[in-house]
Amino acid sequence: MSRQILVTSALPYANGPIHIGHLVEYIQTDIWVRFQQLRGNQCIYICADDTHGTAIMIRARKEGRTEEDLIAAMSHEHQRDFHRFGINFDHYGSTNSEANRKICGEFWNALREADLITERSIEQLYDPDAETFLADRFVRGTCPKCGRTDQAGDNCTCGHTYSPTDLVDPKSTLSGATPVLREATHLFVQLDKLHDWLVDWVNTSDALQSEVANYLKGHFLAERLRDWDISRPAPYFGFEIPDSPGNYWYVWFDAPIGYIASTQQWCDGHGERLEHWWKNDDCEVHHFIGKDITYFHTLFWPGMLKTAGYNLPTKVHIHGFLNVDGKKMSKRDGTLISADTYLKYADPSYLRYFYATKLTPRVEDLDLGVEEFAEKVNSDLVGKVVNLASRVGKFAHGTGLSENYPDDGGLFEAAAAAGDEIAKAYEACDYSRAMRRIMELADAANPFVEHAKPWEMKKDPARQDELRDVCTVALNLFRQLAIYLAPVLPDLTTQCSELLGEEIVSWEQSRTPLLGTSVTKFKRMLNRLQTEELQKMIEESKELAAAEADTTAEPTFNDSDQPLKDEPLADEITIDDFAKVDLRVARVIKAEQVPEANKLLKLTLGLGGDEQRQVFAGIKAAYEPEALVGRLVVMVANLKPRKMRFGLSEGMVTAAGPGNADVFILGVDDGALPGQRVH
Ligand code: MSP
Ligand code: ZN
Repeated sequence: MSRQILVTSALPYANGPIHIGHLVEYIQTDIWVRFQQLRGNQCIYICADDTHGTAIMIRARKEGRTEEDLIAAMSHEHQRDFHRFGINFDHYGSTNSEANRKICGEFWNALREADLITERSIEQLYDPDAETFLADRFVRGTCPKCGRTDQAGDNCTCGHTYSPTDLVDPKSTLSGATPVLREATHLFVQLDKLHDWLVDWVNTSDALQSEVANYLKGHFLAERLRDWDISRPAPYFGFEIPDSPGNYWYVWFDAPIGYIASTQQWCDGHGERLEHWWKNDDCEVHHFIGKDITYFHTLFWPGMLKTAGYNLPTKVHIHGFLNVDGKKMSKRDGTLISADTYLKYADPSYLRYFYATKLTPRVEDLDLGVEEFAEKVNSDLVGKVVNLASRVGKFAHGTGLSENYPDDGGLFEAAAAAGDEIAKAYEACDYSRAMRRIMELADAANPFVEHAKPWEMKKDPARQDELRDVCTVALNLFRQLAIYLAPVLPDLTTQCSELLGEEIVSWEQSRTPLLGTSVTKFKRMLNRLQTEELQKMIEESKELAAAEADTTAEPTFNDSDQPLKDEPLADEITIDDFAKVDLRVARVIKAEQVPEANKLLKLTLGLGGDEQRQVFAGIKAAYEPEALVGRLVVMVANLKPRKMRFGLSEGMVTAAGPGNADVFILGVDDGALPGQRVH
């Protein structure tokens, strides 16, 4: 009986482009959906952009546009990229939709009615310039343990972890302002009230990979579940909470509900009822996600669904992360390759196939080794699969396919029999196993053509029937491979369909050979992948990252014009006038208080060797004497000595500022030597 299946991938954040790491997930999901459809199941694939939160709000502000404008542009870009990779959503929505707002309200009421919402005040860092509360990742400062500067809000490169409020000299990355602690009311979901139910669900539902279930039981479910902070105070880009004005639902509340809202939009366009998909025991719901968002999808989300009376996930398929050449993807190495950059250099089929060879049902990271990538694509796809078609394709146009299936030594039968096992592997998301089985079939098929030598038959008019039989076998074996690979390589399937004049729509077609039909003119199917192209792809990614770093790092300064107003620029002088002033680097050898003087410190300045000068400087309110000893300053060394009440002053230390505590001694960069002249 045909199954009814709803499939989702995680909703990508609207604040960045799709890269080849994301594509692991969307390709994995798309393969599964295409497989289900090929098997005759009713399967829809739902996704959307995840649009809410502080990051989008800040970026829109920076770019001087509205959030709506920004997310519309990103949605367009995302959908374009997915489409070019053959990822075929039935609906791609947005979490910033009226449908989503409405369903969020419904979930909210259900949580309230179940008495799961509580309210309390918490202290959080607030950026007074940007006028917004700061998530940890928007705060940097000096590590309280080791003193390293410019460390992240929650951990230091020394390994120490802390709360952003523990940072020494914290700064907001949004404005550079020093954040202040501010109190605000937040709303929480008391998840622990669902503890027993969650334990039961994890144990009995079969929705989770065993390692995931064990992880949840060993970590979160082993103790009291913490309340989940579900609201953010204004300003926030999101949905305002109807019964708590000034507070907004945290993005992770409305994002998964976006799965349902996007389904709602699909239903509206297809005359379907939402309940048929989300409140129906006969409908399976499958989520595909990466391991980083496990917690949200395996504890909060089931809890919310259960409370609001929607279908629980039949399965949450969790995959690992992509590495490139054994390392985490990085902008600097050029390995954080965007979908857009990839497509300038390589065919999407390559990546779809390569990921398929790497994906298993386990939560394991996968590696894209550049050499291995080219090797797999060239030897398997081009060398084995496409090769089978291209060796006979040019003859078959003349001969067409035989009326009866010729003796092929049992190859077709064996490949048809392998279909169940391959299907099982797809169903279990064990694509790596499916690909291995398919390539074994290709390995068995190719020698048939090699031994038969159709290119020799072509030259002998007496052997044309024989030639047709060889073409019939080779093309039918190719067609079986194309059907088995259809979930992974939709373009190849289309090419096969065009060649043989038969649309491939069902897995069942792999069981019976195609006979007695004509064959169209053979067209090239897939070229070899050149490693140089991959190098170029990495180079371009590096350049893009560097260009982006340039523009995003471009500092904006808004210094006040007050100092110039207070003291306008002086009259012009010549270089000779300036040369009369002998400025020298000097080291502060001694710094002493002058008890009788209100404003002065007595400094002994060294100019190298035994050369010393005594200077009275008006910096008492600004500097402790001890802090000055040893540092380099710039002094006016040829100023006429001046007799003062406390002694002779033999020069002047340069400093800026209006006076009193606001005095700033000019520093000298490392490497300068006492006695050197300042030009
Ligand atoms: N917006 C959230 C998901 C909300 S779902 C209700 C999010 N977005 S994301 O853009 O950061 O990631 C989207 C998906 O791509 C996630 O499942 C994530 O795990 C996956 N991947 C992002 N980078 C990845 C790799 N480098 N490798 C594999 N998958 C990766 O999370
Ligand atoms: Zn540290």
